[in-house]
Order: sequence, then C-alpha cells, then structure tokens
Amino acid sequence: MPYALVVLGYLSGSIPFGVLLTRWLRGVDVRQEGSGNIGATNVTRVAGKKLGAVVLLLDALKGALPVALALRMMPGQPMVHVLVGLSAVLGHVYPVWLKLQGGKGVATALGVLVVLVPVAAVAGAVVYAVILSVWRVSSLGSLAAGATAVATSAVTADEMEYAGLSAVLFVLMLWTHRGNIQRLLRHTERRF
Ligand code: G3P
Repeated sequence: MPYALVVLGYLSGSIPFGVLLTRWLRGVDVRQEGSGNIGATNVTRVAGKKLGAVVLLLDALKGALPVALALRMMPGQPMVHVLVGLSAVLGHVYPVWLKLQGGKGVATALGVLVVLVPVAAVAGAVVYAVILSVWRVSSLGSLAAGATAVATSAVTADEMEYAGLSAVLFVLMLWTHRGNIQRLLRHTERRF
C-alpha cells in the first residue's frame, strides 16, 4: 500500500499541466517561450493570467490530492505522507513523459504543504505575494516562500517528518532554481 501511494504521488505530480494546456488551448509549447519553464509563472508570461492561475491550481492539486489520500488511507504514518508528497514534487520536476525535463516544483510543493503544514503553506504564499507585488520577480518570491515555509514548519508542524519535508523541498527548490539564482545575483533575472 505505501508503495502504491508513492507511485501514485509520482504519477500525479508528473502530469505536465502547463505543457498540455498551453499546447491544447494556445497552440504553443511553453518550453520554447519565456523562461522555458513549464510552471504557472511562465504559463502566465506566455498565455496570460487566467491560464497561469489554472495551471497554478492544477499543479498544486496534483501535490495535494495524493497526500490527502495518503493521510486518509494511512493515518499516523507521517513518513508515508512525506514520501508521497516528495514523490509528487519529484514527479513534477522529473516527469518521465518529458524525458525528466520538468518544472521547478513550487506550486506542487505548495499543494503538498497545504495538506501537511497548512500554516507554513499560507505563510509562504503570503511572502511570495508580497515579494511579487514589490519586485515582480517570481523566482525571488518562490525562494523566499520556501525559506519561510521551512521556518514556519519548524514551529507549527504536527510531525517532525513534515518539518523535514519542508526543508528537503526547499533544498530541491534551490537546485531547480540554480539558473534563477545566478541571474538574481547578476541582476539579470526575468521579471514576471
Ligand atoms: O515557480 C517558478 C518560478 O519560481 C520561476 O519561474 O519561469 O521565472 O523561471 P521562471
């Protein structure tokens, strides 16, 4: 059962909504436009706010739903919940359908944390929104949100495994945003 849930988490996370919806509804490949990322930020750049919001929601849900299912089916097993959540984010970042070239995992991590550490997810989302509204740089907001989620999880998580997951997801975000971080340091990062 835990293995099936972990596989389900990966498969759910690997659905590339950004690629599918921009292709079906706009006839463009989001990987060839803007930053080339398949996430909601780049979908917004390429296809507008409405589709960006839809992709944000779906990318978050594909993390939240398998974790919610794991909580329901295997209560009291925090390590299973963590592994299912991590699999979903890894599915988004390394989808087998896109030759392991996926996105940066922010929205899917948000969905996972909404279920496991809701206060941390809300705190991260607020920090993201504030930074985006002031600087208009999504990657900076994502990284600050990730750091906020780690700090907030350390204080509010019901299980220490959930706080550990926040930290692991933040390290993964640092990796997936390595190009963004270089551009931020050179002051050449794309605005929203
Ligand atoms: O969620 C991804 C965001 O942090 C950065 O996206 O397209 O600006 O590289 P992008």
